[in-house]
Amino acid sequence: MEDVKWWQSGVIYQIYPRSFQDTNGDGIGDLPGIIRRLDCVVRLGIDAIWISPIYPSPMADFGYDVADYCDIAPIFGTLADFDRLIIEAHSRGVRVILDFVPNHTSNQHPWFLESQSSRDNPKRDWYIWKDAGHEGGLPNNWLSHFGGPAWEWDETTKQYYYHSFLKEQPDLNWRNPAVKQAMYDVLRFWLDRGVDGFRVDVLWMLIKDDEFRDNPVNPGYVSSESSYKQLLPLYTANRPEVHEIVAEMRAVLDAYPDRVLIGEIYLPIEELVTYYGRDLKGAQLPFNFQLIQTAWNASSIAEIMDKYEAALPPGAWPNWVLGNHDKARIASRIGVAQARVAAMLLLTLRGTPTIYYGEEIGMKDVPIAPEQVQDPAEKNQPGLGLGRDPERTPMPWDGSLLAGFTTGTPWLPLGPDHASANVAAMSKSPESLLNLYHRLIELRRGNPLLTYGAIEAVGVEGNVLRYERRQGNDRLAIALNLGHEPVQVSLPAGRVLLSTHFGGGGEDIDQSLSLSANEGIIVQPKV
Ligand code: NOJ
Repeated sequence: MEDVKWWQSGVIYQIYPRSFQDTNGDGIGDLPGIIRRLDCVVRLGIDAIWISPIYPSPMADFGYDVADYCDIAPIFGTLADFDRLIIEAHSRGVRVILDFVPNHTSNQHPWFLESQSSRDNPKRDWYIWKDAGHEGGLPNNWLSHFGGPAWEWDETTKQYYYHSFLKEQPDLNWRNPAVKQAMYDVLRFWLDRGVDGFRVDVLWMLIKDDEFRDNPVNPGYVSSESSYKQLLPLYTANRPEVHEIVAEMRAVLDAYPDRVLIGEIYLPIEELVTYYGRDLKGAQLPFNFQLIQTAWNASSIAEIMDKYEAALPPGAWPNWVLGNHDKARIASRIGVAQARVAAMLLLTLRGTPTIYYGEEIGMKDVPIAPEQVQDPAEKNQPGLGLGRDPERTPMPWDGSLLAGFTTGTPWLPLGPDHASANVAAMSKSPESLLNLYHRLIELRRGNPLLTYGAIEAVGVEGNVLRYERRQGNDRLAIALNLGHEPVQVSLPAGRVLLSTHFGGGGEDIDQSLSLSANEGIIVQPKV
């Protein structure tokens, strides 16, 4: 068998730390909480956890505004808790991936406070400062992801600074070698503490045009979208020079054995795959969000499978993501019944799967009343459905009043169904989605074809998506009914290894089989 790394054969699980497990009654999850639930993560079969930011932060963007890259926010714990988490996770064979947020800091970061203090401060050039444009206006037309212009006026030094996101998140100047060195030292700080890798926030946005050219107007813009979409981010993202930085980050990681660099990159497939880098010396896993962005039907999914596989550079390792803390939850997007099919798809595709916490129990977006809104994306542009609170709500662990998440007041409301849809209840129900995830991961671990096998024979028959995983003469056939009606499918004669509906496991089938509504199966054909 080829030399396959843990981040290739393993399953990654994203933890949104505020919502995983609270241990001190403040209603916000913390590091001791993650430690407390590690055994649950292990029982599910997870190989690595990626933890969204846990650094000191004013929390203007819930941790994506970092005020100190080398410490832990008191609400989450201490560096000692973190060290304990590494030991506890590693002793269970679980790797720990941190979120690295290099594009911007908090405006409370000492670097920015210095940079802002005067035009001749040595850190002035650590951020992107520009004089006012024509007649005292903005330097150019660049827009913030969270609404409005991306430029904020600084009255003291009479210049604008650039922020891709909130004005409380000024962008670092990645053209400055001192910034790069400082940030690579941050990576080393955590690598030395035993971190196994990083998920890099908005990796494709690190470099902006050095001529500050206006972004072109987006002809496809519709007013129900975020105002950010009015322009195409031609000069503010995916600039050619960014690849040099990705390669440098990778080189920092490569000085340590067996680490992984994952990039958050929202780009079309042909651009996304360039982030594997020259000679595959870029990100090992540029996150593939196609399953989040594609319409949920057999032909669209078949199309992205083919397109993605064809676009991968030789030797590049694929990966698939179903959901994250920025997007509506899969069970809300496609319904609870299809969430089972989605689980089977994610865990039988070729490449590293990433599961967002709560997907395994079918967590849905939780309605957030206006007075409960936390997310600045919603506060800044209300009513457009941009808020991300619904997919960030506390994990329901058991059927108790506060779901075993906290003894205090949860920072976001629990889902209305938490009394029944929780980890404890679903572990006891053999046919639950949680047990399906468990069985799928177990099957993936036990059957090398699901790791090493090529994806072949991708086909669509009505609402049914079919494909095979093949290596030499060995193969597995997968058929997923993405429709809500039963269907008859022809499949190679063989044995059913697993159905999303559990019935039929171990059964022999002969060429043709009926799939229930929303059913997927994995078949081992007769040799
Ligand atoms: C992407 C993160 O996933 C999102 O949550 C955050 O708001 C922005 N980057 C800014 O850091």
